[in-house]
Amino acid sequence: MSETTDTSTAPVEPELTETATDERDRNANRSTTPGSERFKDFISSGWAERDEALPPARAQAAYAAARRAAVSQAFPGQRLIIPAGDLKQRANDTEYPFRAHSAFAHLTGWGSDSEPGAVLVLEPEGGEGHLATVYFRERAGRDSDEFYANPAIGEFWIGPRPSLAHVAADLGVATRDIGEFDAVIDRVDTATLVLREADAALTERVDHARIRFAAEEALSTNAQDAPFSLEVGADHEPDGELARVCSELRLVKDDFEIAELRAAVEATSRGFTEVLSELPRITAEVRGERVIEGVFATRARLDGNDVGYGSIAAAGPHATILHWTRNDGPVVPGDLVLLDAGVEMDSYYTADITRTFPVNGTFSDVQRQVYEAVREAADAAFAIVRPGIVFREIHAAAMQVIARRTAEWGFLPVSAEESLDPSNQFHRRYMVHGTSHHLGLDVHDCAQARRDLYMDGVLEAGMVFTIEPGLYFQPDDLTVPEEFRGIGVRIEDDILVTADGAENLSAGIPRTADEVEAWVRQAQR
Ligand code: GLY
Ligand code: MN
Ligand code: MN
Repeated sequence: MSETTDTSTAPVEPELTETATDERDRNANRSTTPGSERFKDFISSGWAERDEALPPARAQAAYAAARRAAVSQAFPGQRLIIPAGDLKQRANDTEYPFRAHSAFAHLTGWGSDSEPGAVLVLEPEGGEGHLATVYFRERAGRDSDEFYANPAIGEFWIGPRPSLAHVAADLGVATRDIGEFDAVIDRVDTATLVLREADAALTERVDHARIRFAAEEALSTNAQDAPFSLEVGADHEPDGELARVCSELRLVKDDFEIAELRAAVEATSRGFTEVLSELPRITAEVRGERVIEGVFATRARLDGNDVGYGSIAAAGPHATILHWTRNDGPVVPGDLVLLDAGVEMDSYYTADITRTFPVNGTFSDVQRQVYEAVREAADAAFAIVRPGIVFREIHAAAMQVIARRTAEWGFLPVSAEESLDPSNQFHRRYMVHGTSHHLGLDVHDCAQARRDLYMDGVLEAGMVFTIEPGLYFQPDDLTVPEEFRGIGVRIEDDILVTADGAENLSAGIPRTADEVEAWVRQAQR
């Protein structure tokens, strides 16, 4: 038996004995861990007792329980399967960082420490209500070879995993090993619903199980019209209802969520100021936008889980590209930088904030003119926010200003009033995106909510959304004077609806042109 002394962290395979040739070939480029019984005995022993003390329930646990109760009430008697999702491959032997689905996080309270492949099951109970159980891959014992020989899930490779008892205490929910999830699949019937978008492989298993159940039902009842409308991989309308309910449940944030969003805004504010303090390095590098991205990402990793979405670090004419995330351009004094970035906390709640600032600390006249028009639009939108108004009115308020200013500057072929007519909308050439979206666990939160509750929805205290007007004059736009071309400005704030109005959670980050100039200069000292 040969022993390897390979100290690289390339994946290993347990040493092969009698193995098919193709498997030998596949593993030929991998080092192996020793497979002898004597080695296994040795590595399985000599470990200190683990600390098995159970944690108190985390702060989210009670909130997550209330959310599960709301979902339970919406689907009496139905089995509900809400997967976290699994690791996704980036390249050979390399995965993207794991991030659980937001519905799973919302209903379990499990955030950046959640386990890939976990599944929340709400099992209908005899009378009413549901029993919630989180299935996940339990920690392997020292007597298995998993902990040292499995690079994907072994403790030697990825660190310790929690025990079932630990997670049960932490989240305040029943837990079972994922191996027992097969029994859930065996119980799947046509009334079982799955949150389809979270885990394609698991959804396929549920689809197959539902079809099998329907076929068996048809056989046992001798039905002539078997209900074969079910299809693997096809959208299944009742599953959509589950996604909708999970999405709509997040439209109004509870106290825990609001506190996390405040913390995300705070961390994002720190990140923005740190970017400004690095301006000398940013302007010195050929790909200065990458420095901005990196400085902000460092803050996101220090204070939270990650950035909540790909940061947009757009200098000069890149600022006119709405989702510029390549971030590989230079940052030149005299230009503006549009930075749209947000820290996602360990709970997964994210900020979504944009500030646009002059690299040299002073707006040119035309830059300031555009900037202040955008701020006026943002302020006009914010001014109307209170419980009782309709969500889309916020966009309309911002558009009044955008149309008025662009008309005044002579960019529109018609008056502002005519442009605002739904059949015209010429001003939208310079701002093609919307003004607001809900914000929470997803940067674009509550995406499956019905229009009646979202776009046409009436605002309620506890809703959180962005206000983010902008003006973008493309470098080759011949409808605007040359000095406007290549200027892009967006101001994006995160807004909480309160009992009698609204709070701008990001008001503490400089917003007026004067404040922004002072902020840039201050950070350089
Ligand atoms: N960062 C994307 C957005 O503002 O919606
Ligand atoms: Mn946004
Ligand atoms: Mn944004």
